[in-house]
Amino acid sequence: MKYLKILGNKKLSGEVRISGAKNAALPLIAATILSKNSVQICNMPDVVDINTLLKLIDKLGGSFSREKDCITIDSSKLHKTTANYDIVKTMRASILVLGPLLARFGHCEVSLPGGCAIGQRPVDLHLKAMEQMGAVIKINRGYIEATAPDGLKGAKIVFDKVTVGGTENTIMAAALAKGTTTIINAAKEPEIVQLCEVIKNAGVKIEGIGTSKLIIEGTNKKLLPMKDFDVIPDRIEAGTYMCAAAISNCKLKITDVIPLHLEAIISKLEEMNFEILQDETSVTILPTIEIRPVNIVTTEYPGFPTDMQAQFMALATQANGTSTIDERLFENRFMHVSELLRLGADIHLNGNIATINGTKGKLNGTDVMATDLRASSALVLCALVANGETSIHRIYHLDRGYEDLEGKLNKIGAVVSRHTEEK
Ligand code: EPU
Repeated sequence: MKYLKILGNKKLSGEVRISGAKNAALPLIAATILSKNSVQICNMPDVVDINTLLKLIDKLGGSFSREKDCITIDSSKLHKTTANYDIVKTMRASILVLGPLLARFGHCEVSLPGGCAIGQRPVDLHLKAMEQMGAVIKINRGYIEATAPDGLKGAKIVFDKVTVGGTENTIMAAALAKGTTTIINAAKEPEIVQLCEVIKNAGVKIEGIGTSKLIIEGTNKKLLPMKDFDVIPDRIEAGTYMCAAAISNCKLKITDVIPLHLEAIISKLEEMNFEILQDETSVTILPTIEIRPVNIVTTEYPGFPTDMQAQFMALATQANGTSTIDERLFENRFMHVSELLRLGADIHLNGNIATINGTKGKLNGTDVMATDLRASSALVLCALVANGETSIHRIYHLDRGYEDLEGKLNKIGAVVSRHTEEK
């Protein structure tokens, strides 16, 4: 197993280029199942989760080729309909093939994603939406067996809870369904907006893009003439590097971003007394004389993202005072706390609220263990300001979602190296 060694207290400077968004690319790859032609997707991040979903497309009978950051996917000849446990267990987002496979073939079998480090993460809302569109769902030996012999039919879906993946699956299913689907309480994340736009550019009528009410006119199983496109920038990767600049209290320019997608992150950094300069495609964070504490509640977009909570907790360890983080989306997303304590942080948990007392300059490098993707990035951030060396183990979590993390960090002045554990 690989681990990262980070030597703390180095001055960061310069520019970081942000890659394409993993969480936009995943549903977009699944959406190629709806396409009658091959599609070239550029600005594709080179991260493990993307490769996992491409492997699934390949197993289903599709094919893909890669040239630099562009991947051409041909799902037109895709003919298998089973997403096996061996892939789904490694990545829950594999559930995103459910909607498009069912809509195209009238049946599919997708392994139920099992437990997850950040919470239970059930898929009941995905399944309920498919049922409302006419599917019959059975759970058999750990598999979702979905059938709709006469095809899916448009329906009114009211989500009890905002769900990103559930909204994505329903949009993709609705695109090939017969008739009109209305989704109420839809997620509004930029990743959902891009999925809608790509499907709309392929000729499907969609109203309400970017709002919580989407109206989609299905094509009644007619495959889509999907066009080539670029994946939007990764707002969470961008936010993570903004936190790297902030925690190190250094000036850093983050390029190739859409600043509008970063509003909640920028606003919290401003509350923490950082000045952020913006132009059309970049943000520059400037050092501050005092990092102020902050109170954060995670919520759906455009609110503060749960995927940035761990990184802000890392930053709060360097604030002058006491911060709080209230995690409202996932029930178990504080696994990083015990690892941050090992580095010398002062954090108290009460249910889903963390209280962080600033301990500026008092973190000391040691061995810590990554538990999930964003938790790992919090460990990296703390390691950047810890005294001495920190070794972060189980970094396969990081590789799932951060492209070339060491390369990007070393380029801006950090000292990060990758090693293999001795047995
Ligand atoms: N939920 C249900 N039932 C469902 C679906 C969701 O109860 O059928 C609950 C979840 O358990 C959770 C909440 O609803 O408590 C929100 O879950 P959602 O479905 O919105 O999340 P997701 O689609 O599984 C995506 C991202 C996550 C991100 C969340 C929230 C992808 C591939 N994943 O997950 O990203 O945290 O939205 O914004 O887009 C990450 O990148 O590290 C990551 C975990």
